[in-house]
Amino acid sequence: MTANEASSAPDQIVTAGSEPDAGRVIIFDTTLRDGEQCPGATMTYEEKLEVAACLDQMGVDIIEAGFPIASEGDFEAVSAIAKRVKRATVAGLARAGEKDIDRAGEAVRHAVNGRIHTFISTSPVHMKFKLQKTPEQVLELVAQQCSRARNWVEDVEWSAEDATRTEHDFLCRCVEAAIRHGATTINIPDTVGYTVPDEYYALIRMLIERVPNADKAIFSTHCHNDLGLAVANSLAGVRAGARQIECTINGIGERAGNAALEEIVMAMRTRNDVLPYRTGVESTMLSRASRLVSAVTNFPVQYNKAIVGRNAFAHESGIHQDGMLKHTQTYEIMTPESVGVAKTSLVMGKHSGRNAFRTKLKDLGYELGDNQFEDAFNRFKALADRKKHVYDEDIEALVDEEIAHMHDRTKVVALTVIAGTMGPQSATMTLDVEGRQHTVQAAGNGPVDATFNAIRQILPHQAKLLLYQVHAVTEGTDAQAEVSVRLEEEGRTVTGRGTDTDTLVASAKAYVSALNKLTVKRQKTAQAHEAV
Ligand code: KIV
Ligand code: ZN
Repeated sequence: MTANEASSAPDQIVTAGSEPDAGRVIIFDTTLRDGEQCPGATMTYEEKLEVAACLDQMGVDIIEAGFPIASEGDFEAVSAIAKRVKRATVAGLARAGEKDIDRAGEAVRHAVNGRIHTFISTSPVHMKFKLQKTPEQVLELVAQQCSRARNWVEDVEWSAEDATRTEHDFLCRCVEAAIRHGATTINIPDTVGYTVPDEYYALIRMLIERVPNADKAIFSTHCHNDLGLAVANSLAGVRAGARQIECTINGIGERAGNAALEEIVMAMRTRNDVLPYRTGVESTMLSRASRLVSAVTNFPVQYNKAIVGRNAFAHESGIHQDGMLKHTQTYEIMTPESVGVAKTSLVMGKHSGRNAFRTKLKDLGYELGDNQFEDAFNRFKALADRKKHVYDEDIEALVDEEIAHMHDRTKVVALTVIAGTMGPQSATMTLDVEGRQHTVQAAGNGPVDATFNAIRQILPHQAKLLLYQVHAVTEGTDAQAEVSVRLEEEGRTVTGRGTDTDTLVASAKAYVSALNKLTVKRQKTAQAHEAV
């Protein structure tokens, strides 16, 4: 711990009606709802359960597990998470309609602590063009939606969508009505990422001071990052009296994303002198959560991303390295260990056995079931045969991939590529599609093109390739390649990722992974249409 870091020891949570400032801020994670809404970040049912378990273990207070009315898949994921999670509260999102609220109520009813999060737009532009309702009609719906949600659960959150562009008098009336009809948490979203810290501070203060029953609810922030201000705005909201922050791992979410959970937690820990607040999040799990979310969404974490980017603790320039060697606090405001980053080490080789591998996984924060462990161990052995030095990053990439692709309906079985100056390049590819193997041969304009053409022969589709990106997991020419492939089909975007010491095999895995995601997304869209 560095001088400014405060402990993240759990503390009593402020509840509606209790003393306003115990310094404890509730962390409401919406990675599985707002995060999953962002283009390309679809997660499967199993992946959602995996992420929820990680969030619960990490000490997140509330997990927003999804939007139950959106599709059968969303409903099932929210119900399963509600049944499994024992510590955190599980929330389901609902619009103002009765069907929405009842569906959310059914989804969270088996939770130890279940919450319905219901919302409606309150800004003039949203009411007029999106809802086509008058302010008085909206006010009526606020009362109805909160009362209906309260029939299902005691823990009701109400959100004023587009609150930061809402007229103050009207917002006060809506908040007052929501609390009067049973809401225990009032969320003030900056839906379009438009506000700035001083303005958001003033808005939260204004509401707490002017709404007569404000002391009966907890105020919450929900800031989008369109201007890169989501974290700063959320912290300003807390300084103004909000005691819940809605955020996501890696800041994923609609458009430019939501406030990043890891940044919020570490800002409060590192600058506890000026932000005297605490969360219940175990900060040493931040890195692990970031990697897991990145692996299951196939969304790479930007290298210079605060807290969890691979360069966040790397010191490259001579001056910085010299300073660091003399004293780490010259350029380090928090330690890598405090966010769960182990120092890069030469860890294992082909002679390492099961026990050593199990211990290493534990050190890196993974707990795998027996079958998963066996698969990961076999893949580790295969990697160690091909690669001289196996680093922590290699093992993380390997296990993350194992988790991400565990339930894929299509898997890469074999690939042989003929490449080089003589051309034409060709690829012979075997894929396992739901247990049946298919082998084809295809030519292409280069080995990657040939590989992708072969995959297209087995899995014909119209999706457009938006991105093909390769980077090395570690250094050296034998490093594993990590490939990202982004596809777009009828407005649906998906990203797949694959890792292998062979760049072409990694490319094939990434492409197949994107197609697997696309299948899930097509099914979800079809279910959503049926539900509406
Ligand atoms: O950004 C937003 O307004 C939301 C609401 C549904 C809370 O995500
Ligand atoms: Zn949002």
